[in-house]
Amino acid sequence: MLCLTLAKKTIEEDIADFWKNRAYIGIAEIRLDALDFKELEKVSSLTNQVDLPLILTCRRKADGGFWMGTEKKRIQILKQILELGDFSYIDIESDVKRPEFEAFIKSKSIQIIRSFHDFEGVPLDLYSKISKLASKGDIPKIAVTPKTVSDLILIFKVESELASIKEKIIIGMGPMGVCTRILYKKVGSMLCYCSDDDMNLGLLSPRILSELYRADRVNAKTHIYGVIGNPVLQSVSPQIHNPGFHAIRFNAIYVPFLVDNVRAFFHLAEVIQIFGFSVTIPHKIDVLPYLGKSTREVRLIGSCNTVVRKMNLWKGINTDYYGFINPLLPYFDSEQIHEAVVIGAGGASRAVIWALKNRGVKITILNRTVEKAKALALETMSNYDSLENADKYSGRSDLIVQTTPLGMGEKVDFDPAPKLKFLGTEIVYDLIYKPHLTKFLERANDSGCILCYGIDMLVEQGKLQFEEFTGYHYPSINIVF
Ligand code: ATR
Repeated sequence: MLCLTLAKKTIEEDIADFWKNRAYIGIAEIRLDALDFKELEKVSSLTNQVDLPLILTCRRKADGGFWMGTEKKRIQILKQILELGDFSYIDIESDVKRPEFEAFIKSKSIQIIRSFHDFEGVPLDLYSKISKLASKGDIPKIAVTPKTVSDLILIFKVESELASIKEKIIIGMGPMGVCTRILYKKVGSMLCYCSDDDMNLGLLSPRILSELYRADRVNAKTHIYGVIGNPVLQSVSPQIHNPGFHAIRFNAIYVPFLVDNVRAFFHLAEVIQIFGFSVTIPHKIDVLPYLGKSTREVRLIGSCNTVVRKMNLWKGINTDYYGFINPLLPYFDSEQIHEAVVIGAGGASRAVIWALKNRGVKITILNRTVEKAKALALETMSNYDSLENADKYSGRSDLIVQTTPLGMGEKVDFDPAPKLKFLGTEIVYDLIYKPHLTKFLERANDSGCILCYGIDMLVEQGKLQFEEFTGYHYPSINIVF
C-alpha cells in the first residue's frame, strides 16, 4: 500500500494533494507539524473530505519534523484532534511514554505506529529494536539511513529475520534507501511513504511508484532487476525496462541501486535474488572479477554493462557495443562509413572503437590526454592525435563520434572540438543523450550532416539488455523519458 504524506502548510492544500494522488494510494498520513498553526483547528474537516484511512503524525524536529513546541502541547493537540476526527492510526515515537494518552488512543480503537528514526545510519541491533517496538502490540516503524550496501542487506533481511511480525513499517531514507522503498514489499514493510515533494528526483512520487514501478504489485514471484551505479538515481533505464516488463506481462521490476561497493552488491543480489542488472559508471570494470562467464565483447572492451544470472553463474555482457553500432547499420549497408574520428579515449570510447574496428573502419582517436589516445590506438590499431589538433581532421572522415562528457550537465554549453569543421557529408554521432541536441550536434546539423543521437544508443543498448533479462524482444511501445 502506498501512503501519501500530506505535509502542506494548509488543510486546503493537503486535501488538493490527496485528490491529485488518490488513484495511486491506499492510505494517507497527515503531518500536523507541517501545518500553519492556525490550520490545526481545521484538521477534522480533512477527515470528512477524504475517503481513505488516515495516519495522524506530529513529528518533532529531532525526528525530522517541524514541531518546535513543548511535548506537553504536542500531546494535547494530538489528543484534541483525535477527539474530533476519524483516524485509523497514530504515529508515536518510541521514546514517548504516556500511558494515559496511549490508553485514550486504544479506547478509540486507533492503532499505534511506534516509530524509531535514525538519520545517521542503520543500527546494528535493528532486529531487536523492531521486536521491542512491536512488543506492546503496536505496529513497529523504523526509518533508518543506509549508507552502504551492507546496510541495505541488513534492511532487506528484516523480512526473513522477523517474519512473525506481520505488520511493520520499514523505511530506508536518503538516496541509498530508494531501492528499499521501491521494493518495500520485499523488505516486508506494510506501506511505503511517498510524496510529490520527495527530494529524490521525484523517484518516489505516488504516480512513479504506482505507474512506473508498480511497487504495490510486487509479490514473492516478482523477478528483481536493476541498475547499479554511483550516482544512479538519474538513470533513465527504469523508464525503458519497467514499461517493457509490463507490456509483455512479465512479473518483474527494475530498480536503481546506489552502490558503493560492488562486492557487497553481489552479496545483496543473492539475498534478494536479483536476476540481472545493468551496470553504469563507475562500476563497469569493477564487476569483471565477479563474472563466471563473459562475452567476447566484454573481454575485448574490458568493461561490462549488463550482468545476468545464468544457472549458478553471473554472465557479463556488453550491450553498449551493439547499442552503439545498431543505429549505424543502415549506413554500413550503404557503404557510407570507411573512416571515423572518435573524440575521447575513456570507457565509453572503448566500446565505440572496438565496434567500429570490427566493422573494418579506419579510426583516428582524438583526446585531450594524448597518452590515453595512444594507448587505445595501439591496442586497436588506430591512429591518434591530440584534441588540440582537431582542425587537421576536418573533412577527412565519414563518421565523427563524440564520447566525452563535454556537452552535458555543467558542461552543457561546451563543444568538445570547436576547431573540427564539418563538410555536411559526415554522419555525426554524440553519445550524450541529455540534452538531445548537444552544442556539437547542433553545429553538425547547421552544416547539413546526418545526426545520430545518444538516446538512440541508450534505447538500443537497453532493448538488448531487456532481451538478455527476459528472453523476449522488446515490445513495440513508446518509451517516455
Ligand atoms: P567514460 O567512461 O564516460 O568515457 P572517462 O573514462 O572518464 O568516462 O572518459 C572521459 C573522456 O572524456 C576522456 O577521453 C576524457 O579525456 P582525458 O583522457 O584527457 O581525461 C574526456 N574529457 C573529459 N573531460 C574533458 C574536457 N574537459 N575536455 C576534453 N576532454 C575531456
